[in-house]
Amino acid sequence: MDILRDLSIGNVKLKGNLILAPMAGVTDLPYRILCKEKGASLVYTEMISAKGIYYGNKNTEKLWEIDEAERPVALQLFGSEPELMADMAAKIKERNFDILDINMGCPVPKVVNNGEGSALMKDLSLAGKIIRAVSDAAGKPVTVKFRKGFGAGENTAVEFAKMAEANGAAAVAVHGRTRSQMYKGQADWQVIADVKKAVKIPVIGNGDLFEPEDVKRMYEQTGVDGFMFARGVRGNPWLFSRTIEYLKTGIVPAKPEMEEIISMILRHAKLLTQFKGEYTGIREMRMHSGWYTSGMKHAAGFRNSLCRVETLEELKKILTTMKK
Ligand SMILES: Cc1cc2nc3c(=O)[nH]c(=O)nc-3n(C[C@H](O)[C@H](O)[C@H](O)COP(=O)(O)O)c2cc1C
Repeated sequence: MDILRDLSIGNVKLKGNLILAPMAGVTDLPYRILCKEKGASLVYTEMISAKGIYYGNKNTEKLWEIDEAERPVALQLFGSEPELMADMAAKIKERNFDILDINMGCPVPKVVNNGEGSALMKDLSLAGKIIRAVSDAAGKPVTVKFRKGFGAGENTAVEFAKMAEANGAAAVAVHGRTRSQMYKGQADWQVIADVKKAVKIPVIGNGDLFEPEDVKRMYEQTGVDGFMFARGVRGNPWLFSRTIEYLKTGIVPAKPEMEEIISMILRHAKLLTQFKGEYTGIREMRMHSGWYTSGMKHAAGFRNSLCRVETLEELKKILTTMKK
């Protein structure tokens, strides 16, 4: 069986099965476009609060704006009240996203203390009610992203996946770490393999995909249907194109040259400043530039300037000097 194949989630047919994970503060519209251009089959928005939609939170506007060029897109919602979640799913169903994903994996205390995100892994019955209610209301395929378990050493993923399937989920994405681990330690791919065996809906594996060869290893160890990249693609959208080439040819392509990285930073900065305005866009570019240039030899001085840059013009000047 080919590792790279066209994955269908409900009635949504993807070209390929390499997926950009939802990452708050990272996977905004400009970044999703860059990943799509490099071969991502499906991109996820940052997580969006159902309560935020209910209260008309202004910040939501930028989070759910979707460009036709990046579709298909999964919009990720989080929340803990089945009725409110279903009402919000119904309210937004005419928007131009393709799949509605429910976040049941977020580990941050602010979210967990509200009973949202990974806290739902502790309450299977409530999680099931949310998935059922949202699936009935969304008018689009509903997927669920969750973890291995909640507490240290807990492994409830198989039970959770079966519950999600029984309540109408069209696919699940499994991150092989517990909530206690946050992002530390190695992701447990055995639990992903166990979930794959336990359900009929497509299973997307997530955790520690940093190099093209990792996808092949994950496939061999788990047999999953799709592969979700997160930290590995920050400042590195080429991971999509390099993985595709590797899986087609068996040869691991070289990493991008300095020139290509510089062009990507510039394009990213232009898109981001157009989308969020120069003040916010350039400040957010400081963080992305840090990822783009991490590991670059002899770039300490440039990295220092990039993390203080104030304007697009200034950024262009730094990048021009880097080229010389
Ligand atoms: C900065 C950051 C933000 C994240 N935001 C979200 C989010 O909004 N929704 C979500 O389901 N997961 C979120 N995640 C988790 C990732 O989607 C992914 O599950 C996790 O990073 C494990 O994959 P990795 O080992 O390849 O990084 C976030 C992770 C990071 C590092």
